[in-house]
Amino acid sequence: MNRRTLMGAAAMVAALSVTGLALAQDLPPLEQKDSYKVGFAQTESNNPWRIAQTKSFEDTAATCGWDLVMTDAGGSAAKQVADVESMIAQGIDVLFLPPREESPLIPAVMRAKAAGIPVFLVDRSVDPAVAEAGRDYVTFLGSDFIDQGRRVAEWVIANHDGEGRIIQLEGTTGSSPANDRKKGFDDAIAADSRFTILESRSGDFARDEGRRVMETLLQAHPDVNIVYAHNDEMAIGAIQALEAAGRVPGQDVLVVSIDGTRDALQAIIDGKMGVTVESSPFFGPLACETMKKYAAGETIEPWVQVEDRIFTQENAAENLEGAY
Ligand code: AHR
Repeated sequence: MNRRTLMGAAAMVAALSVTGLALAQDLPPLEQKDSYKVGFAQTESNNPWRIAQTKSFEDTAATCGWDLVMTDAGGSAAKQVADVESMIAQGIDVLFLPPREESPLIPAVMRAKAAGIPVFLVDRSVDPAVAEAGRDYVTFLGSDFIDQGRRVAEWVIANHDGEGRIIQLEGTTGSSPANDRKKGFDDAIAADSRFTILESRSGDFARDEGRRVMETLLQAHPDVNIVYAHNDEMAIGAIQALEAAGRVPGQDVLVVSIDGTRDALQAIIDGKMGVTVESSPFFGPLACETMKKYAAGETIEPWVQVEDRIFTQENAAENLEGAY
């Protein structure tokens, strides 16, 4: 059980003790019907992961009876809030939302709920101390980001000989995957005294920013021999920076990451990356199934967890074809 589960469970027990069965009734109901006007407010479309996630919703629309209203916030939490407000005004039945950052999107979640629209958070979550699944939104569909960071650290501990001097490229500041992937990794790596985190800085989950940050940090820490990136795009950017500086990723610097994109699997096959822990972007079918269960009045758990694989030299090639 991780931080979010614990906080969510504690908050729910407290709320139940005060309100009794009123908790579930607080959520807007969803009528059972053949088609729904569905809002999907994407955060940005600057990487293969986001593009695959959007496509998964588009592909699911026809089979799930969705009339999709889609927006792209272009990397701005303020724009994503405005996008949700526009969807509310357009009369959507349901909102699927990957909140770009944990706090700024909470008012949008609350406004959708106040307008009678059930909200399903997909892939990213909001601050669990402020907004709760089962009360403010229906559920969170997504991976265990703390566990992803922990699994990367455990792979590094098991596969790196000698001292490890680590640069960490964090995801978007204030986002749930950046917060949790850092926590999971930092806690696990601290258990082995061979490892030191030299510096940890945001590359905003973007390839170019990851490359730029890596160029800067490489000058400050030329003794780095491990790079942990919170997503594959930043890992690829870091590899570009390392190679431009005459370093040899996979030989003198171990690069490890999270997502499972095609480029990352290819980098593993080429010996430039050690591992990527999967974070699946294919949410469409799960979103459809969960929405239908909710409309049918079934109990929805506060967290519908996605299980993730791990890709290494042993299985990267066989998974390349299905990668995005
Ligand atoms: O929220 C999931 C993260 O967001 C993915 O790891 C990343 O690639 C994306 O931008």
